[in-house]
Amino acid sequence: MKKIIILLVSLLMLFSLVGCGSDKASEATVWSEQLKTKGKIVIGISPDFPPFESLTTDGKIEGFDPDVINELIKYLDEDVEIEFAQIEFDNIVTAVQTGQVDIGLSGFTYDPDRDVIFTKPYVESGQAILVTKDSGINSIEELKGKTVGGQTGTTGYEAAEAIEGTKEVVSFVDCMVGFASVGSTIDAFVTDYGVVKNYADANGMMVLDELLSTEEMSIIVKNGNNLLADKLNECIEQFLNSAEYEELRIKWGI
Ligand code: ARG
Repeated sequence: MKKIIILLVSLLMLFSLVGCGSDKASEATVWSEQLKTKGKIVIGISPDFPPFESLTTDGKIEGFDPDVINELIKYLDEDVEIEFAQIEFDNIVTAVQTGQVDIGLSGFTYDPDRDVIFTKPYVESGQAILVTKDSGINSIEELKGKTVGGQTGTTGYEAAEAIEGTKEVVSFVDCMVGFASVGSTIDAFVTDYGVVKNYADANGMMVLDELLSTEEMSIIVKNGNNLLADKLNECIEQFLNSAEYEELRIKWGI
């Protein structure tokens, strides 16, 4: 009997310890307590996606998304500094889930398979197809028998896989490497319209008229960090109604 009681007591202690160790998320009373480090918001970002995010020649991250977060934090009721953590796109969801970063901001399309919280969308998008002007490909139909690329872990890659009759779908860890391969190792590349258009214009290439999907982009937050997600939603709402929102869309051609 004594042994059983001891066992029960130790089990109880173990459970309460597990309870204590559980997320600070559940104990937080204000959004800022759900940040890894108070006063700092660490952002997982994959800067291979201009005009949303890319690297300047001196290694700084620039684009619509970084400008968006700089605007959003102006609506917070506590000061935070921003720190970007460069992560391959396909690893950002895990980085958010494991708390390595506070949020993921990288043109994230809402996708229920990604087990995180999605904020309200801050911009609309859709999957588009990049080809060379002399490819002879003018429609989705004409991708039959062709090799199509997409970035690993993206909705663009999924959309490419869903095209009927392609010869092969190739995945690229870096979106820019995928773009650069169009016309050589692949016939077409699928990713978000704004990014495809930007690249096509700068490189004398072509975007097919038909889109493979319509989507919306959000910021991703770890499950349980609802206070942080709610706060970001409030900020997004105010930002979408601001003059700065339109200015940024014009600045980055989005
Ligand atoms: N919108 C697409 C998705 O969520 C692609 C985003 C890719 N972003 C990037 N920074 N490479 O899957």
